[in-house]
Amino acid sequence: MAVIQIKPDIYFVGAIHWDRKLFDELIPLPDGTSYNAYLIRGSEKIALIDTVDPATESQLLRNLNHLGVERIDYIVSNHAEQDHSGSIPKILELYPMAKVVTNQKCKAFLQDLLLIPDDKFVVIGDGERISLGNKTLEFIMTPWVHWPETMSTYLVEDKILFSCDFFGSHLATSEMLIDEDPKVIEDAKRYYAEIMMPFRNIIRKNIDKVTKYEIEMIAPSHGPVYRRPEIIIEAYKDWVSDKVKNEVVLPYVSMHGSTKRMVDYFIDALIERGITVKPCNLPSADIGKMAMALVDAATLVIATPMVLAGAHPAAVYAVFLTNALRPKLKFASMIGSYGWGGRMLDQIKGLMSNLKVEFLDPVLIKGYPKEADFRSLDKLADMILQKHKELGIA
Ligand code: FEO
Repeated sequence: MAVIQIKPDIYFVGAIHWDRKLFDELIPLPDGTSYNAYLIRGSEKIALIDTVDPATESQLLRNLNHLGVERIDYIVSNHAEQDHSGSIPKILELYPMAKVVTNQKCKAFLQDLLLIPDDKFVVIGDGERISLGNKTLEFIMTPWVHWPETMSTYLVEDKILFSCDFFGSHLATSEMLIDEDPKVIEDAKRYYAEIMMPFRNIIRKNIDKVTKYEIEMIAPSHGPVYRRPEIIIEAYKDWVSDKVKNEVVLPYVSMHGSTKRMVDYFIDALIERGITVKPCNLPSADIGKMAMALVDAATLVIATPMVLAGAHPAAVYAVFLTNALRPKLKFASMIGSYGWGGRMLDQIKGLMSNLKVEFLDPVLIKGYPKEADFRSLDKLADMILQKHKELGIA
């Protein structure tokens, strides 16, 4: 049982998933996660903001039982993804008078995903309000954080923004109310990098939209509640901005050491030129760390040997994922070693169609690197430095 009072008559009643290792069967969760549901007791009506992943449903039910919740009038669904909506059918079964409050698009998703009957819904639009008596819920459409139907709910009298995935962090912790904690911002950056980054232009608009409200607390549906909302808002503003940093992300894979020798040399060459480098050894990498590095970096250099007549599949995966995440990279290049030929340059470039990058001359060599190859790597490092200087970041 983990009921945490956020403010008088407002409670965290969600679930902490301490040992969840992977999200969407894709995203590593080194710190677990939480699915935050919040109970708001108004003088006339009781609302539940979001639910929890069905795997942790028993935690939500224990929490409601602990609070002696005899009635739920409204289940607000800010987002149809099942880690927040998946327990709505169970809540409707236990509280048959409850109505699911959401927007038209979310309603359609909930009907598709959870087979919730039509008569269970109250459909609201942008800016509409529902009164709980002495408390008022206002619904703010915040699409594409990270699905098209996502919305936030603002509790007018208490100035709390329930933002669901938006501003959330994948962190399991018993400290669900924080003021300033770099670890939480780091975990929020991981989450942003992995699911929000492709939508950063629309997220910028959503930040402008929600910050028109006076916000004293942001209560997301993953990770702790922010008692100082400006901390996460400023972090998000930085992440979605067009500003890039003097950084190179260097995902690499090497089979017999030739590409690794190039990578080692190249890392040193970048450091000597004052460029931050974030290497990522792909076969054993936490791919989330690579995604986080892509939030800020100006340049991507992929390092791969040739195998099976093309780039190594681990490198192909890294470039495919980068392309899907659409980071604000400005430059890209490639280094690596081959034995007898192949077309891996065209293959890798062909996977970058979403990236608005200038492709710098690659360094692809035959066999183990020799003196001339190291000079070519120096030249690439020089070119990256020059390009970063032109951007005013080096
Ligand atoms: Fe936390 Fe998009 O679900």
